[in-house]
Amino acid sequence: MKLKILIILIVTLGYMMVTIVNKAASSPVPYNTPTYTGAPIDGQNPPHAVDIDGKPIPESSAEQPSKPIIFAKDSPNKSYGEFKRTAAFDHNKHTTSLTHSIDGKTLTACVECHHTEQPSAPKGQEYLKRFERKEVLTAQQLETSKEPVKSCRVCHWQDSTPKTAEFPPPMDITYPKETGKAVLKGPLTNMIAYHTNCLECHRVAKKRDPKLKPPTVCGDCHVKKT
Ligand code: HEC
Ligand code: HEC
Ligand code: HEC
Ligand code: HEC
Repeated sequence: MKLKILIILIVTLGYMMVTIVNKAASSPVPYNTPTYTGAPIDGQNPPHAVDIDGKPIPESSAEQPSKPIIFAKDSPNKSYGEFKRTAAFDHNKHTTSLTHSIDGKTLTACVECHHTEQPSAPKGQEYLKRFERKEVLTAQQLETSKEPVKSCRVCHWQDSTPKTAEFPPPMDITYPKETGKAVLKGPLTNMIAYHTNCLECHRVAKKRDPKLKPPTVCGDCHVKKT
């Protein structure tokens, strides 16, 4: 009798275990939920970026980077390694100086770079589909909400990192005809995403004012390792 109960118990428990394991395998917890226990997201271990004092840029933060940032610390590419110290990205200047804007007249909106930190696609950027913030990110919105902003590398993974169905975003981007921009071919790795964001503006700004000095060629930003 006791043996019978024991067998039933073992069979039931075994069945429950299989169900739990199956469930975990079929519906992975998204990386941005509090119960996420998967592998660390890309660009954190080792950090892909540090500020000029050596402090790593975290996966997300509610503090704007106050010191210039040295990117590509984890680049496995010998020819295009980490940033030169002289090419550190000054977040402060890029958000508060008109000289660092695309047309020299309008300050660059936070969401021009942090495109997922808004509730929906702005006019002219209907090709954007992914949104993760209830209100449009501004310096003020950050101050009052204290809602963290994600590093680009949470989504735009390195080419050398094994791809998932979600990251790096696998899609091609078709820009509106009037922009004259060619289709951006996915997957949208860190190289594609940052280069598109940083370099497009630098090229346009340089055309507008040849006296400006935004970095535009590979060696302006990356160190060549020997
Ligand atoms: C020119 C592009 C650009 C603009 C404009 C910009 N940012 Fe950023 N921001 C970045 C980049 C690049 C990083 C570094 C993220 C990374 O590691 O990939 C960053 C980092 C941050 C972080 C820290 C995130 C972390 O993971 O530590 C916060 C907070 C932030 N920005 C807020 C803002 C706010 C608020 C504005 C508008 C006032 C703004 N940003 C405008 C490009 C920009
Ligand atoms: C939460 C995930 C996520 C974060 C964080 C993120 N991206 Fe993206 N990015 C995407 C996805 C997904 C797409 C494809 C378009 C879409 O679905 O909205 C994309 C598309 C892009 C594109 C191509 C579209 C365009 O506007 O030209 C660029 C460039 C880009 N990202 C740069 C960045 C930069 C720079 C940062 C950080 C300042 C960043 N992304 C942060 C997910 C993200
Ligand atoms: C919306 C336009 C815009 C975007 C986006 C942008 N930049 Fe710039 N950046 C500029 C302009 C304009 C200058 C030239 C300023 C000058 O010569 O006074 C500049 C200058 C720089 C400089 C030279 C030092 C300095 O601060 O003046 C570096 C380094 C730089 N940018 C890195 C980056 C990186 C890295 C990214 C992408 C994460 C980026 N920028 C995105 C407009 C932009
Ligand atoms: C405005 C500065 C800038 C210039 C100029 C630039 N890059 Fe980059 N590059 C970046 C940034 C920012 C990243 C992303 C770094 C990160 O993920 O931390 C990057 C990433 C890369 C990577 C990917 C490294 C990895 O993580 O696997 C390669 C390769 C690369 N760049 C090559 C080039 C080449 C080739 C050129 C010239 C055609 C060039 N870069 C010009 C800013 C620049």
